[in-house]
Amino acid sequence: MNKMMDGSAARRGGLPTGGARARSGPSDAADRPVTVLHFAQRKRAGEPIAMITAYDALFASLVDAAGVDAVLVGDSVATALCGEETTLSATVEQMIYHGRLVRRGARRALVIVDMPFMSYQVSPRDAVRNGGRILKETGAGALKLEGGAEFAPAVEALVTAGVPVMGHLGFTPQSVHQLGGPRGHARAAGALEKLIRDARALEKAGAFAIVLSTMPGRIAQKVTHVLSIPTIGFGAGPLCDGQVLVLPDMLGLTEGDGSASPKRYAELGADVREAVARFAQEVRGGLYPGADPTWTSPPRSSPRPSSRPPGRC
Ligand code: KIV
Repeated sequence: MNKMMDGSAARRGGLPTGGARARSGPSDAADRPVTVLHFAQRKRAGEPIAMITAYDALFASLVDAAGVDAVLVGDSVATALCGEETTLSATVEQMIYHGRLVRRGARRALVIVDMPFMSYQVSPRDAVRNGGRILKETGAGALKLEGGAEFAPAVEALVTAGVPVMGHLGFTPQSVHQLGGPRGHARAAGALEKLIRDARALEKAGAFAIVLSTMPGRIAQKVTHVLSIPTIGFGAGPLCDGQVLVLPDMLGLTEGDGSASPKRYAELGADVREAVARFAQEVRGGLYPGADPTWTSPPRSSPRPSSRPPGRC
């Protein structure tokens, strides 16, 4: 089984299990692990693909149980979790660390890990060396990298080496200094023609899907139409073959400019602040833990999964 941890290990480790999985996916959802082959089938069948980011085992197990098809370990970990202004600081080691955590939590969804800035830009050789390491050391099923035709040789080298690759076009945060912000790329003259050229080059190089980020829906629709591989939209309108959101943003856990999510499905940041403020107030007011002097905390169910590789993370 290509899993670092089965359901019982997840229970022993204290993670939520798939018992409450939302059965909201298409009929093939069942419990079969999702592979890159399902992506092509979904496009052919016209069944939208749902992808979401996660960066640790706890949230990976929750989103997996909720029935998403793919969990992206995005280099957005740098901005969404680590307080950086851009994704440029993410490293191969960091992506391996978070990829391994997510792989532990995801039982069914395809785990896709981002290749960070400068891990593939210099040469296809670098791409294979770094990408091979990320895939091997995380147990993920695929990688994602940003950029168009100029990186088709890197995609081809990875695919030839047996590494499934998802492309990423439109607003590519690793090029933020060049693009001048999320909307810059879509305003450039000939943007649609370039996007189509880039998308076709990635498809020809063997990419199994492409994220289309932050662009008018009619442009994403045209790109989607010319490709036989699926497109996954991020703020790119309703006519892509699937959609992706950044988890902390869609849950309302983040604030400010960096948290612009196409849609927020919850306001958990407010819940967290409210719960912790209440706890602090109760401690100061002598209400927590209450008057019973014999009460102690129950032991944590902490034996870790025995299948966990030793000495890491
Ligand atoms: O890093 C990330 O989270 C991403 C998504 C925005 C698609 O690339």
